[in-house]
Amino acid sequence: MKILIVGTGYVGTTTGLVFCEMGHQVTGLDLDDKKIQALKEGNLHFYEPGLDKLLQKHVAAKQITFTKDTESAVNEHDVIFICVGTPQSADGSADLSYVQNVAETIGTYMNRYKVIVTKSTVPVGTADLVRQWVSRKQTTSIPFDVVSNPEFLREGSALHDALNPDRIVIGTTSNKAKKVMRELYQTFTCPILETNPKASEMIKYASNSFLAAKISFINELSRLCDVLNIHVNDVSAGMGLDHRIGPHFLKAGIGYGGSCFPKDVSALIKTAKDHKLPLSILESVGKVNAEQPLFLLTKMKEVLGGDLKNKTIAVLGLAFKANTDDTRESPSLVLVERLAAEKANIKIHDPVAKTKAYPQSETIEEAAAKADAIVICTDWDQYKQVDWEQLKPLMNQPIIIDGRNMLDKDKLQRLGFTYIGIAN
Ligand code: UDX
Repeated sequence: MKILIVGTGYVGTTTGLVFCEMGHQVTGLDLDDKKIQALKEGNLHFYEPGLDKLLQKHVAAKQITFTKDTESAVNEHDVIFICVGTPQSADGSADLSYVQNVAETIGTYMNRYKVIVTKSTVPVGTADLVRQWVSRKQTTSIPFDVVSNPEFLREGSALHDALNPDRIVIGTTSNKAKKVMRELYQTFTCPILETNPKASEMIKYASNSFLAAKISFINELSRLCDVLNIHVNDVSAGMGLDHRIGPHFLKAGIGYGGSCFPKDVSALIKTAKDHKLPLSILESVGKVNAEQPLFLLTKMKEVLGGDLKNKTIAVLGLAFKANTDDTRESPSLVLVERLAAEKANIKIHDPVAKTKAYPQSETIEEAAAKADAIVICTDWDQYKQVDWEQLKPLMNQPIIIDGRNMLDKDKLQRLGFTYIGIAN
């Protein structure tokens, strides 16, 4: 099938390349000149393991092409995926202006029946809005269907997730569109859930919010475990062995970040508020998450004598999770900002994420030099590989605050480090 992907960010690019792998012919459309040029040359404009190789493969094979020519792109494709961003608005809701723009453009240029699919995370009711936005721009009435088909991939493992989804959700009331979607996904072996657009849209928000709730649950519990001197990792392990609970998203840490969980929790709360139905559990999820970096800060202050002024803190990790350069809503940045407010000297290291706002060290050694404490904020594998024995003499004080509970406490203590984890 010939597929048009509108929006070449994480979701759009990954989705397009996965469709290429399934044998479909894909065109990526974006208004950003630089992105399109880079992608045409086989260069990703973001860091995502494995995706660059796949891009180069399918660019070379002409299985994927990129364009800025909206009119021709809409004309030539019968299946159009909307993969543009839905950032958070000031009131917490999802900003649908990019989605609206795309829908109106499709309405303006469409020449024959189209299946219009929303992959972007969009609030309940958006499929109806897309229908209205497209219709309003049509000069003659041409039939089309709107399908909600949310994406569940994670950054850092986008390719793996998109190639091996747990499920595919198809939300439409049109049998014609259903047939097209089934054909599109026919090579996938996972369960395919067919439902109406509203339920499909809700499944995405409910899934992300539930995962965020699992994290906030264990993070809040970690504070109690800390007081009671219980290893929270043991608690997660014991809980996770119960099939009804499962082991995933129970890792206590510095809190969740990224472009999805914070925004999607807020958007679902906003949807509920608009219907005068407060979601008190989710409100607490967000609150606990905002507090979690401060829990780490308090522990840091305790071990450093109560005052961080002029203390040198090496922050390892800026990205909101490992294997990405994305720092959106990163709890690491929340902590860094608090450290700056406390007038600490901050040195940051991250293997790929960048900041211009704070001094950034090229190597872990450079960051650790003369540090009064190291704080691990991102679960990069390479922080597990550090030769702590060699690093120790570089530091002013051998103190490690492990915001991801990822290091070997016993080993570090044997080496003479003061180790502070999250209830660990
Ligand atoms: C998430 C969803 O997992 C994905 O299905 C959706 O499509 C987009 O949003 P993503 O934000 O890319 O994906 O990353 P994810 O792996 O879910 O992690 C989100 C945050 O939670 C990260 O900050 C991560 O470090 C944190 N996290 C995750 C924990 O603190 N503990 C855990 O046990 C798991």
